Amino acid sequence: MLRFICLSLLGAIVSAGHPCTSFPASLMQLDAGSGMVFGVSESGNVFNWTGNEFLLVPGQQLAHVTVGPAGVWGVGKDNVVYKLLGNQWKTITGGTLIQADAGGAIFLVGVNTNNKTVCLNNGFTTSRCMAVSFSTMEGSFIYYSCGLLGCWAVSSDPINNVFYRENVDQTACQGSSWVRVDGNMTRIEVGTDGTVFAVDSEGYLYRRYGISRDNPTGTTWDVQNYPLYINHATYDSGTLWFVAENGVVLKCQVPGSGLV
Ligand SMILES: *[C@@H]1O[C@H](CO)[C@@H](O)[C@H](O)[C@H]1NC(C)=O
Ligand SMILES: *[C@@H]1O[C@H](CO)[C@@H](O)[C@H](O)[C@H]1NC(C)=O
Ligand SMILES: *[C@@H]1O[C@H](CO)[C@@H](O)[C@H](O)[C@H]1NC(C)=O
Repeated sequence: MLRFICLSLLGAIVSAGHPCTSFPASLMQLDAGSGMVFGVSESGNVFNWTGNEFLLVPGQQLAHVTVGPAGVWGVGKDNVVYKLLGNQWKTITGGTLIQADAGGAIFLVGVNTNNKTVCLNNGFTTSRCMAVSFSTMEGSFIYYSCGLLGCWAVSSDPINNVFYRENVDQTACQGSSWVRVDGNMTRIEVGTDGTVFAVDSEGYLYRRYGISRDNPTGTTWDVQNYPLYINHATYDSGTLWFVAENGVVLKCQVPGSGLV
């Protein structure tokens, strides 16, 4: 795989057979969901995709941001949790997180500072009460993300193993048990439509194929042939976004799962 190409050539490229556009946005992480895209820079600034550029969202420095059916949420460098309400970041009390994902059907999930996966059944619906109670799950993890057909996690012990959470539903976000899935990944992002992408420690991007209601863990990881080291990827309604080396952001048109 050719991974070293001149970044100045990246204005508009076809990568892995898909048309892509690049932006010199210098982001460290981004998340797409519900038709919106938010990202954070190395220095902690938060950006919002307007349709043709990333605009600064003032008011709060963050280390991690997520957007989806559960709203816009952020995690600070000090692991404090925030939610964007109106145009203001409100501090959420009740737990400290290292990562969050708002992409599930109706609830927020994430990983707390004890490496436990957490979820919020409906605590976030009350806009006036900023105290929530996270449900925690067994095991030790670094990343957790949910979409249409369930929730996927990356473990911290053993490092970078992939797990699927069984029996997560709209009334019981904790689910019942972990099932090991093949693969060794550093991050997994599940699109709201159920499409699953993952990144490994070598910077390769994978898509999970064979996912269906009968087989929500799918069958194979297919490496996506992008000529860059990828740090982070997120997918929403036909658009794959990723952060590559040097903070360059790529936006690629990629057909979705067709899951309904
Ligand atoms: C983000 O951008 C969209 C599109 O321009 C806009 O509708 C939305 O209000 C923005 N949100 C914030 C928090 O800036
Ligand atoms: C969480 O996982 C990371 C990665 O494996 C590890 O470095 C860290 O020590 C863990 N933290 C806790 C509190 O277990
Ligand atoms: C992937 O994880 C499995 C289970 O922990 C381990 O046996 C295997 O060596 C790992 N592979 C790589 C390439 O790290």
